[in-house]
Formats: sequence, structure tokens, C-alpha cells
Amino acid sequence: MNLKDDLSKILIIDFGSQFTQLIARRVREFGVYSEIISHKKINLKLNKNHLKGIILSGGPLNVYQSKKIQFNKKILKWNIPILGICFGHQVISKELGGKVKKAKNREFGLAKLKKLHKSELTENFFNKTGINNVWMSHADEVTKLAKGFKVVAKTDTSNFSIIENKLKNFYGIQFHPEVSHTEKGKIIIKNFVFSICKMKRNWTSKNQKNVLIQEVKQNVGNSKVICALSGGVDSSVVAKLIHSAVGKQLTCIFVNTGFLRMNEETQVIKTFKKKFKINLIYVDAKKLFLKKLKNIKEPEKKRKIIGYLFIKIFEKYARKIKNVKFLAQGTLYPDLIESKSVTGSQSAKIKSHHNVGGLPKKMKLKLLEPLRLLFKDEVRKLGLELKLSKDIVFRHPFPGPGLAIRMPGKITKNKVKILKEADDIFISSLRDHNLYSKIWQAYAALLPVKTVGVMGDNRTYEYMCLLRAITSEDGMTADYFNFSKKFTQHVSNKIINNIKGINRVVYDITSKPPSTIELE
Ligand code: XMP
Repeated sequence: MNLKDDLSKILIIDFGSQFTQLIARRVREFGVYSEIISHKKINLKLNKNHLKGIILSGGPLNVYQSKKIQFNKKILKWNIPILGICFGHQVISKELGGKVKKAKNREFGLAKLKKLHKSELTENFFNKTGINNVWMSHADEVTKLAKGFKVVAKTDTSNFSIIENKLKNFYGIQFHPEVSHTEKGKIIIKNFVFSICKMKRNWTSKNQKNVLIQEVKQNVGNSKVICALSGGVDSSVVAKLIHSAVGKQLTCIFVNTGFLRMNEETQVIKTFKKKFKINLIYVDAKKLFLKKLKNIKEPEKKRKIIGYLFIKIFEKYARKIKNVKFLAQGTLYPDLIESKSVTGSQSAKIKSHHNVGGLPKKMKLKLLEPLRLLFKDEVRKLGLELKLSKDIVFRHPFPGPGLAIRMPGKITKNKVKILKEADDIFISSLRDHNLYSKIWQAYAALLPVKTVGVMGDNRTYEYMCLLRAITSEDGMTADYFNFSKKFTQHVSNKIINNIKGINRVVYDITSKPPSTIELE
């Protein structure tokens, strides 16, 4: 019996929004189990068992594109609470007899939401002024309410920003309560889940671990799996998870691309091979990667080459191990959103994360990505549950392509050496000054610019090192960390005094967006 079949749940129907997983994540944050189903599959067997509430996501479609939208009207008769968000709000309004039109004034970004009436959905949500900042992203709007609905709140441009049919327990919201830019948006989801759907907490890290182990066992059966171990948190958790599920059927392959952090290879071998007794193959491919990336400047090209080499190496070792069917990767949800939406719908491509977009189409191994629906902090909790050390679990994220995407321009052996040393000084200093755990991710990058400096009365003409340290919740948005002058002085001096090849250190003070976390 699958543990998940036994759990009460909130079902999220996905209409292709970038934020669908964020809704699921918010629900999980309250310790409540939720499942996502694409609207394209909703006409298939939809199971009412254990269903306590339904959330309809936003999406890029227009409610009158009837051929593209699959909406199973059955759910409206199930006597189960429904919350429609943005497009979901428009869909239920239309299905129940209301009207939706292209808005005169499209709303993107922050809007001021005004309270008109009390509602169970907005209990403790509104500020004392009765006005909250909410985040909107829509071109269409509900222009006529369906029968039985009343307005709870509005903005200057949208009259029906929150509506409810209390009798049926149907709610519609034009803005996005799931994104962090909506002030106290989580309270709306919490009210829906607990007060309206009457859910009880049923989702813990332990449950999650058991469900994921079970899923891996079911997917893999008696086949063999190879896992791309990088030493980062995600691939470490994935390796430990799969090892817990299928033991010796798993072989980890650790490729030294040459773009790893200082001493990373030694640590990985010690932990996984010696401590956990996981099958591990160490591949030293430093020369190959350098050769194939020679003179390549364009970041997407670098990613594609690295991704391609990775897969070729895996395939080679998979053939040696014989009968390998799966390639496991520590892909997380933010990687997927930014490469391509999870449900295959239209969200803009920002870059190809090597473990998603860089894969050759004809790859001979099947992908196993058990963490693909989780965010970083959830993966960390899972790691602790799997008994990985805090040192591994709370490591800053490290991208698969490694230092290669922290070095804009041409990659050379000397530049890699310089960058590795600078990064090590920066990260060790963070640890020494008890700052490491306060920062979500930090690293040094090497800029492809040489500038003039003066050291010991002599002119120097050397590279520029950029330091980046950010705070973030999930890597989707980020802000730079505020260091003291004392600390930045210390790091800058240490880097310049110890590393030949750098004569200037700068600190990146951009947030994400508009920048990304990595620098490529
Ligand atoms: P960006 O630069 O997209 O980074 O703002 C968001 C988070 O993703 C990590 N990242 C990657 N992780 N493979 C990975 O496993 C990749 O190709 C990759 N690119 C970026 C990045 O370090 C940050 O934590």
C-alpha cells in the first residue's frame, strides 16, 4: 500500500502557472499533504478519496480558450471547498455563470487590496488599515459575479479581487497569495487549509522520507541506478535517499571536472565511500573538461558542453557496470521552473541548468529525479532525516557546472587555480567569523578583466575577483548579504596577499531578480 493513498490531502489543479509548486510548498509548510495534477489530466480518473480541498492554480491561458482548458465540472458538485487563484478564480467564476473579460487595466506587480467584508478566508490577514499589498499578474478579470458569490475585497482596478460563496465554500482570488511579495499571503492559504478544509497536520519530514523511498523502490524495481554525485547538498541527499531505497543497486559516479571547490573530492570519497559504504566510482576528467571548453566564452555553450560531457561519462561507466537503467540526479524544483515548467507549460526559459536543459535528447538512461518537486530547505530537512551530517546538509548550494560558471569568458587552468584559492579563502573566512550559516550561498568569481593596481611600489595588471553572498529562502529570489567593513577588509586583504593573479576584489550588491545568483 502506498503511504500517500492513505493521507488526507489538498489537491492542486495546475493550469500551467509558474507558481503552482509554490502553492504546494505553502501547503506542505503547514504540515499538510498536497498533490498536484495537471488540468490536462483532470478528465482522467479523478479520485475523491481523502480529498479535503481543491486549489485551482493560475496559468497563462484565457478562460475562453475552451479547447485548451480541461475542466472537470464534477468537482463543483463534490461538496469540497475550492479556492481559485488568478486564472483559477476566473475559471470557477465562468463555470458557475459569471463573466470574465480582458481587463481595461492589466495589473502586474504590487496592488493595494482593500477589505470590504469579513471572511473566514481572510481572518487575521488584513492589516489594521484594512489594506494589504498584494502581488497581481493578470490581463483578464472577472466582470460579473456568478450567482451566490459576494465580494470580500477589491483593488482600484479590479472589483472582484477576493470573492466567496460561503454556502458552497467556493473562493476566488485574483492575486497570488502564494508568492512572498503578497503581504501575509500565507495566512490566506492557512485559513483555507485549516479553517475551511478542516485539514489536520499529516505531512512530516519522516513521512516525506518514507514516501520518497517507496517511490524510488517502485520506480527502480530490480534495475541498477547510477547517481551523479557532486558533493553538493542535493546530490548527496539524492544518493543517500536512493541508497536507503535500493542499497547496492546504486552506484555513485563522482566526476572531477576540475571545477570543484577546494579539496572537495577528498571529502566526498571519505563520506560516501568510506563512511556510508556506498558504491562509488571516482572519475578524474579534469583534462577532458578543460580541453573541450578551451576558448568557449558563451555561458549557455559552456553549460551545454559540460552537461554533454557529464552524460557521456555516465553512459561510459554505466556500460561498464552493465544493465544500468537509471541516472539519478539532484534536480530541485527551482531548477525546473527556470529551465522549463514542470507541467510542460509556457514559462520563459532563463538558462539551461546542466542537469535539466543540457541533457542530450537521445540519452540512453532514464532520469530518476526524486527531489524534483522539493525546494532547498525541504531537501535539507530530508537530509537530516536520512542521517546526513549537518556539515553536508547545511552546505551552501553548489551548481553542477561548478566554478566554470563563475568565470565569465575563457576558462584556463591558471584561472581555475586562482578562483579555487580565492573561493577557499572567502568561504573559510565566513566559517571563521561565524557567518557561513547566516548566508544562503556565497562564492568567489573571477572576472575576465585585468586592471592596474599597485603593490609594493610596483605596478600590477591582474584579474578582478568578485565576491557574492546572498540571503534567500529558496534560490528563486535573493538579496545580497550586508558584511561589516572589518570583514570585507579582512577577506580582500587575505585574497590579495595570498593569491598571485588578483589585485582587486569587488562585492556584488545586486539582488535576484534582476541578477541571477550565479555569475556567468
Ligand atoms: P541562479 O544563478 O539561476 O541560481 O539564480 C539559482 C540556484 O541554482 C544553482 N544553480 C545550479 N544548480 N546545476 C545545479 O545543480 C546548475 O546548472 C545550476 N545553475 C545554478 C545556483 O547555484 C543557485 O543556488
